[in-house]
Amino acid sequence: MNTINDMDNYSDLIIRADEYMRKNLSAHRALHIRGVAIESRRMALRYGYDPRRAYLAGYLHDCAKGFSRIENEKYAVKYNISIPEEEWSLGNALIHSKVGAYFAKEYFGIDDKEIFDAIYYHTTGRPDMTLLEKIVFCADFIEPMRDQDSAVPLDILRPLAYEDLDKAVCEISFCVYDYITKVQKGYVCPDTKLTYDYYLRKTSGR
Ligand SMILES: [Fe+2]
Ligand SMILES: [Fe+2]
Repeated sequence: MNTINDMDNYSDLIIRADEYMRKNLSAHRALHIRGVAIESRRMALRYGYDPRRAYLAGYLHDCAKGFSRIENEKYAVKYNISIPEEEWSLGNALIHSKVGAYFAKEYFGIDDKEIFDAIYYHTTGRPDMTLLEKIVFCADFIEPMRDQDSAVPLDILRPLAYEDLDKAVCEISFCVYDYITKVQKGYVCPDTKLTYDYYLRKTSGR
């Protein structure tokens, strides 16, 4: 397993991640991934987190985004991941984060619990996230390639993410919940609602 505490190894990981991405994901997805990596690094510098670890987590967060249903089924069995039927019905919208966390660990050999969790929870969030989880969760929505068609109000969220990270997590989880229930009228992962409730309680009164 790799650690990312020496710069040579870190550079190798980024190169491998970049090669993998160009081979397995669309150009559009690759732009998004680079945007999330850059945004995660910026946010890490703002909040006193290791910018290299944040950049790598951002680079890997969507590594399973290109997987087919058959591939996801294979990896869910291989990694012993329990995925509810409602999540299978959404294609790869939620599953890629869970499968991606295990895939990043195995394929890139990254033995880092914080990076694993940041990938695993990047679509739904969860209550009481680590700093890296919150950074990747927010960077996924506010990275430079996102446009204003997004389900979240970027003009508000982009500055908010650098002023109050917990409030940004609260706002994003609310927007996601609101969009899925009112516009898509679809399944909301319980973690999304739990995340919103937790961060609303934590930030109310600030
Ligand atoms: Fe994702
Ligand atoms: Fe993403």
